[in-house]
Amino acid sequence: MTGFASAAARAAFIAGLPKAELHLHIEGSLEPEMLFALAQRNGVAIPFASVEAVRAAYNFSNLQDFLDIYYQGMSVLQTEADFYALTDAYLRRAEADAVRHVEIFFDPQGHTARGIAFETVITGITRALDDARSRGLTSRLILCFLRHLSEADAEATLDQALPFLHLITGVGLDSSEVGHPPAKFARVFARARGLGLKLVAHAGEEGPPEYVHEALDLLHVDRIDHGNRALEDAGLVTRLASGAMCLTVCPLSNLKLCVVPDLTAHPLRRMLAAGLVATVNSDDPAYFGGYVNANFIAVADALNLSRDEIITLARNSFTGAFLDAADTARHLAAIDAWVMAN
Ligand code: ADE
Ligand code: ZN
Repeated sequence: MTGFASAAARAAFIAGLPKAELHLHIEGSLEPEMLFALAQRNGVAIPFASVEAVRAAYNFSNLQDFLDIYYQGMSVLQTEADFYALTDAYLRRAEADAVRHVEIFFDPQGHTARGIAFETVITGITRALDDARSRGLTSRLILCFLRHLSEADAEATLDQALPFLHLITGVGLDSSEVGHPPAKFARVFARARGLGLKLVAHAGEEGPPEYVHEALDLLHVDRIDHGNRALEDAGLVTRLASGAMCLTVCPLSNLKLCVVPDLTAHPLRRMLAAGLVATVNSDDPAYFGGYVNANFIAVADALNLSRDEIITLARNSFTGAFLDAADTARHLAAIDAWVMAN
């Protein structure tokens, strides 16, 4: 029993359910239309003749395949106005999905390496976040270090962030996982912790369960991004569950990057059954075919998720967020009100 009369009824329930998004790379929300428009406006050459050709290129057999295209796409982002437009478009799209709070990743090294100032990037993003706040959507900003680069490069990036720390809630770790274990970044994460920043890391997306252990033991993370492969280690599952460690799971990303062969094999239900604080997120929605509601609906259809499981996922998105207790309680009450009325 799922508690829904039909898949359409389940989709409608999901569509209006208040939720937070905790795993979203702002550069991964660059839709092909905007990629084209910015390439033209900024005189940046891109190897695609049309928006359709861009979409056709979005076929990946693993994480690295995607990252190669993702970093190339970033090259059209040049000005503060570009970062504003990118962020503003994502936030309006999130609002349409009943997202009430977002925690957004950005990859400054993907921009500073091309000669774009850190300040240009963060000013554009935060101006859009401020505008959204006045519409009722709250946010946090998380600076991700690119793990295929050196720890010294991450340290230099943290140095560049120091004048803007009031705009940043935490640091994260993304890019090519295998071969770049969390241990490589233990010192820069310790410094970030000393600065009062929250800590998250991608772990167990393609990398082994040992990387999840390292993120906990050596980086002292507050959340694990993805965490799929933690399920291969029963002791680790117990550890994550007993610590109420939030996992930011990304179903359509996992499908597009061949982390799962199809969504019926997705581990989300097993995660919930094991007592893990799993959430549903879109990762890089412009590349993976859907924003947060599309992720919820696709995985709910594939796994035939129940009403209770869907409600738990939405509740986890707020309890796992970097929100204070009063805001969390307010959002959970909004979920209760939606559930009562629907
Ligand atoms: N950067 C953007 N999306 C990512 C993902 N899914 N994994 C690692 N790095 C990323
Ligand atoms: Zn990610």
